[in-house]
Amino acid sequence: MSDKANIGVTGLAVMGRNLARNLARNGQRVAVHNRHRERTDELITRFGDEGKFLATGSLRELVDTLERPRRLVIMVKAGTPTDAVIDELVPMLDSGDVLVDAGNANFTDTRRREAALIDRGVHFVGAGVSGGEEGALHGPSIMPGGSTDAYRELEPILRSIAANVDGTPCVTHVGADGAGHFVKMVHNGIEYADMQLIAETYDLLRKVLGREPAEIAETFRRFNTGRLNSYLIEITAEVLGHVDSRTSRPFVDVVLDQAEQKGTGRWTVQNALELASPVTGIAEAVFARSISGQPRLRADAAGLPGPSTEPVVDAPERFVADVERALYASKIIAYAQGFDQIQAGSETYEWNIDLGAIATIWRGGCIIRAEFLDRIRAAYDQTSGPAGLLADDDFREALGEAQDSWRRVVATATAAGVPVPGISTALAYYDTVRAQRLPAALIQGQRDYFGAHTYRRTDLAGVFHTEWSADRSEHED
Ligand code: 6PG
Repeated sequence: MSDKANIGVTGLAVMGRNLARNLARNGQRVAVHNRHRERTDELITRFGDEGKFLATGSLRELVDTLERPRRLVIMVKAGTPTDAVIDELVPMLDSGDVLVDAGNANFTDTRRREAALIDRGVHFVGAGVSGGEEGALHGPSIMPGGSTDAYRELEPILRSIAANVDGTPCVTHVGADGAGHFVKMVHNGIEYADMQLIAETYDLLRKVLGREPAEIAETFRRFNTGRLNSYLIEITAEVLGHVDSRTSRPFVDVVLDQAEQKGTGRWTVQNALELASPVTGIAEAVFARSISGQPRLRADAAGLPGPSTEPVVDAPERFVADVERALYASKIIAYAQGFDQIQAGSETYEWNIDLGAIATIWRGGCIIRAEFLDRIRAAYDQTSGPAGLLADDDFREALGEAQDSWRRVVATATAAGVPVPGISTALAYYDTVRAQRLPAALIQGQRDYFGAHTYRRTDLAGVFHTEWSADRSEHED
């Protein structure tokens, strides 16, 4: 066996370290490097017996320790630090070497970096890696972009460390250049939407039914035995059931209600605006976090009037069942929107992404892993039309069954003054796409009135303008 490593990792903070350990535990010979040597030494001291590690003290040594073509994973902070490592590494690399950025990079940066390295013959692969620290160690979902040649070099190694569902590793070649990081970005956007929907569900059970977090934890535990079964529902039950040891109060009651965000959700929405892809669920989730993080606005607005009466729910168990249906229906919409954005990105950037394959690799390892993804995978076996997941028979049936419950939940929340931006935007989107006529006709009239922007008619071909401020005659433009 070669005494060289078949893969290297630079950047040994917790994600990089766990990825390196996962690689070594699965039989890879892993060269490791960190800017501060102590981290490398700590990895070897604590976990060196887990597999074959080759500790290196500099990027030069790291590069020299790798067999050719070299495979090298960068796991440093997205943005400038990633560029700095690439700039330092590239002069040391040869044609055919593969550089993998496994951080949460913006896909536009990945496209730029890939294009810059092609000229030097170096393959640059932006790989989305989901699953947090535990996933990195025990099996993440991996979304690599870049060239097919580069993927061929990486595939056996990535398959050895990815999560596995029913014998299928959660890794696939997503598409060229930045496709992997793009799909990881939308994954995170969907993660935001899903978390927001779950949070709204909790809020409703708390404020409308007056239930305590521990009881609601039990409700989520029950939800988790059904079609909502997922990692996010599972951890929701754990967080809600947790009691703060300092105060003996429910943990959720002692945590500041200001949700943070690192930026991937915002990127998803920014890109969706560019693609004209209406990811309303993700956008509401991002904005809900933004509002939560504005204490001065919230303090100022806290005294504003609300509904004059308290909500009365005669049949609490029926309300719980309604909420489960509303959550499931809203989740279908949020995921459908996210997958539509991937489709739009795939067309715009010419990636030819297989949506069913994405659902397949999200079944395990990643934060949004769920039984639900198996149903999405099956749906993409059957449908490929513009209505996406909404055209699938099983999802249509679930949306049909949810109708009365979904509307009752939004109505009850509105009457009670409990904000449900995620659930209500999902319903609004659903009603918008299924409407036979939209008030967009009126908007066209308004545009033509104030700006002579013209309009098209339902009964005649061509483009028209009405002389609004004169005799209101119409002429063809
Ligand atoms: C994952 C997670 C991971 C990270 C998010 C959190 O797929 O493993 O999505 O990437 O936990 O970036 O994002 P926020 O800090 O923006 O909530």
